[in-house]
Amino acid sequence: MNKKNAELKIGDKVYEFPIIGGTESEYAIDISSLRSKTGFVTIDKGFKNTGSTESGITFIDGEKGILRYRGYDIDELAQKSNFLEVAYLLIYGELPKTEDYNVWKDNIVKHTLVHEDVKSILDGFPSNSHPMGVLSSLVSSLTAFYPKSLDPNRSSDEINGTIKRILAKLPTIAAWSYRKRLRLPVVYPKNELDYCSNFLNMMFSMPSEDYEINPIHAEALDKLLILHADHEQNCSTATVRVVGSSHASIYASVSAGINALWGPKHGGANQGVIEMLEMIKEDNCDYKKYIAKSKDKNDDFRLMGFGHRVYKNFDPRAKIIKNIASDVLNSLGVNDPVLDIAQELEAIALKDDYFVSRKLYPNVDFYSGIIYKALNIPVQMFTVMFALGRLPGWLAQWKEMRENNEPIGRPRQIYTGATKREFVSLRNR
Ligand code: SDX
Repeated sequence: MNKKNAELKIGDKVYEFPIIGGTESEYAIDISSLRSKTGFVTIDKGFKNTGSTESGITFIDGEKGILRYRGYDIDELAQKSNFLEVAYLLIYGELPKTEDYNVWKDNIVKHTLVHEDVKSILDGFPSNSHPMGVLSSLVSSLTAFYPKSLDPNRSSDEINGTIKRILAKLPTIAAWSYRKRLRLPVVYPKNELDYCSNFLNMMFSMPSEDYEINPIHAEALDKLLILHADHEQNCSTATVRVVGSSHASIYASVSAGINALWGPKHGGANQGVIEMLEMIKEDNCDYKKYIAKSKDKNDDFRLMGFGHRVYKNFDPRAKIIKNIASDVLNSLGVNDPVLDIAQELEAIALKDDYFVSRKLYPNVDFYSGIIYKALNIPVQMFTVMFALGRLPGWLAQWKEMRENNEPIGRPRQIYTGATKREFVSLRNR
């Protein structure tokens, strides 16, 4: 880009605003001075064209289907790394050396236990509570057990301590919320197990029998967590940054991120995909009927797991997850008809002009639920799995926002309501 400034003409006046560029040939017009210079604000519902920050954590090229964490391609990380190492990379910016990785892993293992009083809070939830509501409440409750986390002027050491603490405890809280739903006794973390095996053990081991962790399950889960770990300024991450910009604690910010992720247009889509596939299976696998419904503007039905705000090409994560799904089901000897239905839907949609013209492709949620099902994870826990994966991304983005001392997030608006009018007392109305 050879121009330093963008020009905006309003009436017969021309205003200049700086053009800023990133390391991947992306450019933005810095409109920080727009209102003071022109009296105008901008409107961009859903922030489809609006950048909220400059970030060095994750790069996405939606047209080319590229996703990189701190410069490393997602498929290379999924093949060669592990979730805890990727978490370190996202949060601290570099792949850890062996010594740093071992200290990181040991520190996290040491904090997997949660305060016994968390069980009493859990007991207060009705058994049919959605686990995402339980998870966000329990994460928020951690401020009660770690009140120092509320101090907005905490040192970076104390912030790093909280980061390790919540990375360690979220799997325990998630597994315990699942066990409580089934009115089963909670299972305590076993520090000799790796991150994913420990989670699976806390989810599924039973007092009456030895639970044997299937390494295929643990490895598939580790890859899924890597693939969900960060995704630049998506809805839930943007929420974490905005809440954190008020100098709210990490626990309060992550709890808000969990609630934003819960929505079916965002992380809740992985639950929606499986519910959709099961519905199609029950409806004689009538894919064509559901493709037609998803295209009908008078029908609220959407093809869950399809479409993306940024990817106008294949979501690179969907490609990787599709392969993992086939591998896991084959290795486990599972023949799940919903995988065939998903593949049929994808094949039909990718030839249909409605989807092609709108550049709607399978996203990260389209195949992930098929793997969670094969791992015996219940559908209502699917979005909790997304939250477990996205946690390091939320933490990295929160830390970057605070280290950059970014201002409190407070958008402007255009008022369209009643203009000034006098109050009329009740007897005269
Ligand atoms: C995630 O941002 C991220 O990075 C998110 C995420 C992450 O890692 O954090 O990648 C995770 O949230 C993935 C998305 C999961 N959601 C779903 O799968 C729900 C189904 N998808 C849609 O709701 C939708 O595609 C969104 C929400 C994902 C994106 O919506 P946009 O960018 O606001 O686009 P839009 O709704 O304006 O859609 C553009 C057009 C519209 O048609 P027209 O008005 O042009 O006629 O495409 C249509 C939409 O009706 N459309 C769909 C569709 N998605 C968009 N039509 C049918 N089925 C769909 N799934």
